[in-house]
Amino acid sequence: MIHQDSIDLMDVFEFLKEVKDKSVDLAIIDPPYNLNQGDWDTFKSHSEFMKFTTKYLNLVINKLKDNGSLYIFNTAFNSAFILSYLVEAGLDYRNWIVWYKKDGFSACKKKYVNSQETILYFTKSKKDFVFNCDDIREPYLSSDRIAAAQSKGILKNGKRWFPNPNGKLCPDVWEFTSVRHTNKKNGKTVKQSHPTPKPEPMIERMIKASSNDGDLVLDLFSGTGTTAYIAKKLNRHFIGCENNNEYYRIIKERLKNGN
Ligand SMILES: C[S@@+](CC[C@H](N)C(=O)[O-])C[C@H]1O[C@@H](n2cnc3c(N)ncnc32)[C@H](O)[C@@H]1O
Repeated sequence: MIHQDSIDLMDVFEFLKEVKDKSVDLAIIDPPYNLNQGDWDTFKSHSEFMKFTTKYLNLVINKLKDNGSLYIFNTAFNSAFILSYLVEAGLDYRNWIVWYKKDGFSACKKKYVNSQETILYFTKSKKDFVFNCDDIREPYLSSDRIAAAQSKGILKNGKRWFPNPNGKLCPDVWEFTSVRHTNKKNGKTVKQSHPTPKPEPMIERMIKASSNDGDLVLDLFSGTGTTAYIAKKLNRHFIGCENNNEYYRIIKERLKNGN
């Protein structure tokens, strides 16, 4: 049996069998990337990885409400395949979000250093979905020009435009420093309890944009429970799973202590 407002210690496929169809408002999926970050992130081949990925995606699509939304993390390479799969499955493509991590995967000298991850944003319906664009506005960059525009406005195509006091609409390139980089001490990486936790403010943006108070958020590969923790903080309900005992204990503590 699965539990609402708690994360279950379960394999993803066992867990998804028990989730009611069309019950989820927002799915945030931070799955394996096939990058050997642990046993759970190691596959024999790209094709084995895609078999695993499409198997859980098929199930997740059925769990989404008709006005539900889905975000899925991965490498840019894998995301190209996942995007094509989701389009074929009939979901509505909204954005290819680039997370600029300010902390690359490696210092590779044979190509450009990889310092991004991809987040694909899809909705089930073309027209009927939640997107609270005003809740995730960002500060304007050109502060002098904006300050001047606040009084007189800026003339654009014959109309006077006044800046929004809450900032500009959120773009599709997101700058959030990785947790690994944030936690560095004297420039050195500190051993973390999980290899790939996601920054809280980034998950907060997704939940604020694509759900409302009381909605149900799915945290599928929960890891350290970042999505569940932020969902709880923002008064959303949540369900989710993680199959590693050690990470599961971290989630339990985090949800209990709120940090
Ligand atoms: C990328 S991490 C998620 C990190 C998380 N977003 C956070 O902020 O901490 C993916 C997680 O999926 C878990 N996992 C991998 N395969 C799984 C499976 N078949 N069933 C359940 N959990 C799985 C791993 O143990 C890992 O903790």
